[in-house]
Amino acid sequence: MASKFTAAAAFLVVFPIALAILYPPQGLSLPPTIPGSHDLLNSSQVLPVDGAMGPESLAFDPNGGGPYTGVADGRILRWDGEGRGWVEFAVTTQHRKDCVRPFAPELEHICGRPLGLRFDKKTGDLYIADAYLGFFVVGPAGGLATPLITEAEGHPFLFTNDMDVDEKEDVIYFSDTSTSFYRRQFLTSILSGDKTGKLMKYDKSSKQLTVLLRDLAFANGVALSKDGSFVLVAETASCRITRLWLQGPIAGKKDIFADLPGFPDNIRRNQNGEFWVALHAKRGTFARLALSNTIIGNMLLKLPLSFRQLHSLIVGRPHATILKLSEEAKVLDVLEDTEGKVLRFPSEVEERDGKLWIGSVLMPFVGVYNI
Ligand SMILES: *[C@@H]1O[C@H](CO)[C@@H](O)[C@H](O)[C@H]1NC(C)=O
Repeated sequence: MASKFTAAAAFLVVFPIALAILYPPQGLSLPPTIPGSHDLLNSSQVLPVDGAMGPESLAFDPNGGGPYTGVADGRILRWDGEGRGWVEFAVTTQHRKDCVRPFAPELEHICGRPLGLRFDKKTGDLYIADAYLGFFVVGPAGGLATPLITEAEGHPFLFTNDMDVDEKEDVIYFSDTSTSFYRRQFLTSILSGDKTGKLMKYDKSSKQLTVLLRDLAFANGVALSKDGSFVLVAETASCRITRLWLQGPIAGKKDIFADLPGFPDNIRRNQNGEFWVALHAKRGTFARLALSNTIIGNMLLKLPLSFRQLHSLIVGRPHATILKLSEEAKVLDVLEDTEGKVLRFPSEVEERDGKLWIGSVLMPFVGVYNI
């Protein structure tokens, strides 16, 4: 009886999915529209990363140099302006003789895959969340970075993702996306309903590690509020940003900061204390269906689809969407390239001197948009 029921349920789920794949109806693959959004990101400039791929995070050093960015072959590059272009700044491993292809996910555990980057403005040290190798630091001269932490509670980090530095308190908040899946399995993590993400705190002077939040649905971008009273962590799989209070009457409590129209990646604060959130993609009808129940997600994973096919089913037609949120989570602006003419799959927005620097985990360039 139970198995008959399961088989019937499976058929009901797989049949429409198979149909949708064979005959993709426009409505399912089209990303939804966001009322009041400005379709302006197609006027962005594009700054290629010299044949490299996937500049995920961007950071400027305390002297305004950069941006620095981590690319898919494991290197951290620095932009030295039009004349010198991108120069190699740092790496997280010495074992790089095979790391010659711009995009080789199967080598990421060897070559490293730097994601979140942040400078400690007091010391000029660069902190690096390497998805595979852990949490690193490198001095202002660059070179080979030093590992700081590579595991929590006996489990090695599989997917260190992002961080923010509190220079006043001398602590760093950082996320590990999953204790079950590597970065190159990010679709599996999302579709299988994995909720093993963590937000942690590293105390620089005592070298003490504290797990602050666990059971997060794809813990991703991390950002502190301007006054340090709360820290945000993006939960990509549930299209939401979670807030953990650090000070005040409800310190230690968490709540939902914002529900979003898509899958948030990194969060970066501007000088006014507002937050730029990059959406990897908006959540369309198909993604909503696929993520509504882990049975559906797990069935999708069993279909003979390549990564590219599965990814395009979930995200629909390529596009770029970024949002500016106030400290109270009010949506202040939504900027898009709805047709993905210039920008696609943004991973981070760094506001600097009237420009937005826009990274992407899948594109071979950084976007630059004049506000
Ligand atoms: C950007 O897209 C908008 C809306 O599709 C269009 O009106 C505009 O001409 C485009 N701008 C550029 C620079 O391509």
